[in-house]
Amino acid sequence: MNAQTRKRKGEHIEICVKKDVGYTYNWFDDIEFVHEALTDLDYDRLDTRARFLKHQLKLPFMITGMTGGYPEAKQINMALASACEEYGIAFGLGSQRAMIENPALAETYSVREVAPTIPIVGNIGAAQLLNYKPAQISKMLDDVQADYVAVHLNTLQELTQPEGDRKFSGVAGKINELAKELYERFGITLKHFDELGTALKKATENYNKTVGSLESRILPSLRRFKELGVSVTGELPVAEEITVFPRTKTE
Ligand SMILES: Cc1cc2nc3c(=O)[nH]c(=O)nc-3n(C[C@H](O)[C@H](O)[C@H](O)COP(=O)(O)O)c2cc1C
Repeated sequence: MNAQTRKRKGEHIEICVKKDVGYTYNWFDDIEFVHEALTDLDYDRLDTRARFLKHQLKLPFMITGMTGGYPEAKQINMALASACEEYGIAFGLGSQRAMIENPALAETYSVREVAPTIPIVGNIGAAQLLNYKPAQISKMLDDVQADYVAVHLNTLQELTQPEGDRKFSGVAGKINELAKELYERFGITLKHFDELGTALKKATENYNKTVGSLESRILPSLRRFKELGVSVTGELPVAEEITVFPRTKTE
């Protein structure tokens, strides 16, 4: 990561902390909830869960990408990600451009240890797709165990930064290329999963067959030892068959 970009990432946070960055208008003021006196439902039965791509969230919220790529960012990402884990919401990493340029910086984006179950969304600027190959983006996601990638479209922000990107033509095609690559990558992973499922099913069937023959052939003879007066203590353990119920598909 060049020193300028690194400085800029730190400044984004510093400006938010020290300056007044509030917008002139608060859009939440436009929202008013209509009071419903006759609720006719139980509070404890309210279900706030929401589907987010392949994940289920406890609440329909996400903290979107903000930072990464310099030492202090690690602390921020860890704090945000563990809060997301606690509330069961999605977490987005800041632009991962820095770690593509300098893989040692992957550490500043790595939050999986504090967020083992929630969806983690990687992040890259659309303009960067012109410079990187889909395989590099794919590796960037693997290195931080991200589940998805968000491609940010920030032409205006880039133009306001003296060192920001100026070339944006061709980005739509690149997003398409990346989507294709990631789709195929997930297709391969799903195929491996499917194969694993078939192998597990086979292993379960073989296990049950062995339990069956233990029960019908070996155990009856062993149990007779006791009847015949052999001094044994305790009962023989019972091997149970594994029962598998087919999962109902939700989609
Ligand atoms: C300090 C800061 C850094 C940000 N960095 C990124 C970034 O690296 N990548 C990105 O896609 N969005 C970035 N964003 C945008 C946010 O993810 C979010 O889209 C934006 O803040 C709008 O949401 P809000 O209105 O809830 O703040 C950043 C925002 C802030 C405040």
